[in-house]
Amino acid sequence: MSAFIVLGAQWGDEGKGKMTDYLAEGAEVIVRFQGGNNAGHTVEVGEKQYKLHLIPSGILYGNKLNVIGNGVVIDPKALFEEIDYLENLGVKVTPENLVISDRANVIMPYHKLLDALKEKARGKNDIGTTGKGIGPCYTDKVERSGIRVCDLIDNEVFKGKLQESLSAKNDIITKAFEGEALDFDAVYNEYTDYANRIRPFVQDISVRVYDEIKANKKVLFEGAQGMLLDIDYGTYPYVTSSNTTAGGVCTGAGVGPTMINSAVGIAKAYTTRVGKGPFPTELYDETGEWIRDKGHEFGVTTGRARRCGWLDLVILKTSARVNGLTSFAVTKIDTLAGLDKLKVCTGYKFGDKVIDYFPASLEDLAKCEPIYEEFDGWDSSVADARSYEELPENAKLYLKKIEEFTGVKIAIISVGPRRDQTMVVGEI
Ligand code: GDP
Ligand code: IMO
Ligand code: MG
Repeated sequence: MSAFIVLGAQWGDEGKGKMTDYLAEGAEVIVRFQGGNNAGHTVEVGEKQYKLHLIPSGILYGNKLNVIGNGVVIDPKALFEEIDYLENLGVKVTPENLVISDRANVIMPYHKLLDALKEKARGKNDIGTTGKGIGPCYTDKVERSGIRVCDLIDNEVFKGKLQESLSAKNDIITKAFEGEALDFDAVYNEYTDYANRIRPFVQDISVRVYDEIKANKKVLFEGAQGMLLDIDYGTYPYVTSSNTTAGGVCTGAGVGPTMINSAVGIAKAYTTRVGKGPFPTELYDETGEWIRDKGHEFGVTTGRARRCGWLDLVILKTSARVNGLTSFAVTKIDTLAGLDKLKVCTGYKFGDKVIDYFPASLEDLAKCEPIYEEFDGWDSSVADARSYEELPENAKLYLKKIEEFTGVKIAIISVGPRRDQTMVVGEI
């Protein structure tokens, strides 16, 4: 019996797509358990680059089962655009290699509209969401007024639920935000077309994933976003609206914790964040810009420039604890090549104390001053390394520090975006 988790250990964009694709070679089933098309996962295979938002990164293999779990919020328009995009690139997507949970909540046009209207109303306190309707859809789920995939594919049930929801939402859109009401017939007709197209993919995925694990198939759970965007353990309210941490796997795919064997945290060799919110080790100088340019740190989903900063071991330690990480995969050490000196944050000075955990209160976090340790840099030969021994000595010291501080071993080191630019150095 074998199931393992791959998730982001920082603020997202750590290279989960690349690592999922790499690790999917040894897995038979790949499952997304939370988030939606706010995610942007890049996979490079040979000369081709794929950008995935909603569909698990295992889809590129053709012969693996990919699962969209109940914890995911699904925008059917985005789903079919992504299927068409993949088919245009020669990747087949059929009910044989993709199944979708009947319990997943559906992103409706009013969720996207409300995402934009709420952000506008927040003014300078906006969250900087991706604008994909994620927060409003999860809000309805928790409020128990959401429309699920099983409702969407039953025309009568869908009609009733849409009538109720749309009238309530149109009230909010027009009265609270002075926006324009949505037309029932237009939404109903658009979504019944999606219902017809999605129906063959729909299943009880908890039963399916359980059966696959019991049949000794290797199952990979692919996280979206990252530890500090978690609704409970992230930098609330500057977070996404789902549990991005390991606990989200159980609720988002209907599997028990005893069915999962390991969890690998994907950590970028430095830190990035897109959108608003605190970021203790952020660099506001030319080094930050240098990292952004060299690392092509621009959002896959929104195109926004990512904020860049030094590696923060407080984040990785928190991630190791909250996710029960069994190993790290460290990406993009090649991006840092060429810097003379590097800094790594090993704690926060908080009043007269030094802490190595992330405080809940943003007011407390604002008072935290990062404490840095300096490391010597390495050169671009790092990108050619294919084994630990071939890495420059200074890169080894940097990586050792991550293991020492977090108490978690590094299993994989990535030195470029492609599958072959990866080395396995330990057990995941
Ligand atoms: P995800 O959201 O975690 O899947 O990450 P993104 O795809 O949003 O961003 C990671 C970016 O880094 C992508 O463009 C990847 O192709 C790229 N990438 C991943 N690993 C490496 C690496 O080790 N080195 C370099 N240079 N790029 C990498
Ligand atoms: P992947 O899977 C980085 C951020 C947004 C915003 C906050 C809330 O590619 O790592 P939302 O639209 O989810 O309500 O936005 O979360 N965010 C991400 N940042 N990577 C992502 O996904 C993200 N998905 C959402 O920028 O700050
Ligand atoms: Mg991304």
